[in-house]
Amino acid sequence: MTNELEAPVDRWYVAAHSDEVTREPLARTVMSKELVLYRKMDGEAVIMKDLCPHRWAPLSMGRVVDDCIQCMYHRATFDENGQCVSVGGSDEVPVPWRVPTFPVAERHGFVWVWTGNRSAADPDTIPTLFERIDVAGSRVVDDCFPALKAHYMLAVDNLFDSTHAESLHESTLGSPGFSLQRDVDDDGNAAAEGAKFEVQMTDDGIAYQVEILNNIAGRSFIAGLGRRLGQPGEYTGPVDQFLKVTWSAPCFFTFDMTVNVAGGASEDAVNFCTFHALTPETPTTFNYFYKTVEPPCAYHESLARFWHDKTTIAFNEDKTMIEAQQRLMGTRRPYRSDRWGALPSDQLGMAARGIVEGLIGADASVAETDDIEEEIKSTPVGVGH
Ligand code: FES
Ligand SMILES: [Fe+2]
Repeated sequence: MTNELEAPVDRWYVAAHSDEVTREPLARTVMSKELVLYRKMDGEAVIMKDLCPHRWAPLSMGRVVDDCIQCMYHRATFDENGQCVSVGGSDEVPVPWRVPTFPVAERHGFVWVWTGNRSAADPDTIPTLFERIDVAGSRVVDDCFPALKAHYMLAVDNLFDSTHAESLHESTLGSPGFSLQRDVDDDGNAAAEGAKFEVQMTDDGIAYQVEILNNIAGRSFIAGLGRRLGQPGEYTGPVDQFLKVTWSAPCFFTFDMTVNVAGGASEDAVNFCTFHALTPETPTTFNYFYKTVEPPCAYHESLARFWHDKTTIAFNEDKTMIEAQQRLMGTRRPYRSDRWGALPSDQLGMAARGIVEGLIGADASVAETDDIEEEIKSTPVGVGH
């Protein structure tokens, strides 16, 4: 069983970074649903369909008034429950219009939305792998590629495959001769001397760890280590590096990276995490939210912005590649392609696809298409005149 989006419906997805949701309406598409987001006067986030039932003007072109959103075409005004409370400035509402609203939760600096079966929307099922973002004293930098033109599973593949760092990110996360995972043998062990590669199945996904001792690291990491040590330019000696990647199905990742002078004292190490949420938008686009987090530390100078800028350059390299893949795939489904070649480094991505497929099969709901006309017929919007 599957659906057009190739994504489980009964799940929480990230709709926005918390600071993107304000008293100005924000338009966003999640799971083929066009949504408008705003905050009430008490700061609580509201998410409803971005469509005025009168003449289908986008509510995101309107304005927030008290706890309501007002359409800018003929001033129909809808409260936080989507109920029309006034039209054209009059409280006399001629028709019982109601705009569908969606369950919202706010956790870990993200606004989450549930577009599936409402009765199953329990905020306690929001993935816990982002909890580290909340640690007091952490430095956090947010970013987003909205409407990235590719199926979200191409990004899942990309984030599971660390071997592309040495080619696609050759001048950013990689460096000549640098390899995180290339020499993995049939048992999943890293063949290179001084390297370990371990995979673990978790309750809600897959995790893997890479440890490489006394070796070279990627350019960004040795540049960051140089700054940490107060040296101009890159640190040129051998390093120890540790990477832990955690994936929570279907589309959430954390990357926890530590680099140190080979055999160095732990207080000299640099550590940062990146958090990734890939939200399906349409069958060929997704919203890519990410945060770079530096843990509380006694550094004289925060490296959070430095890491963020470096990883953003690398993510742009990924964006260019996966959008190009999608262009060639067109409307063919990347999710199910059995024409691809397979390398050992593709194994985790393919295992992830199997897990996602199981979640889609367990869905109580069915994903709706992005055909707005079909969707509106199946929702109780606007009984009309
Ligand atoms: S289209 Fe919104 S009030 Fe007319
Ligand atoms: Fe990448």
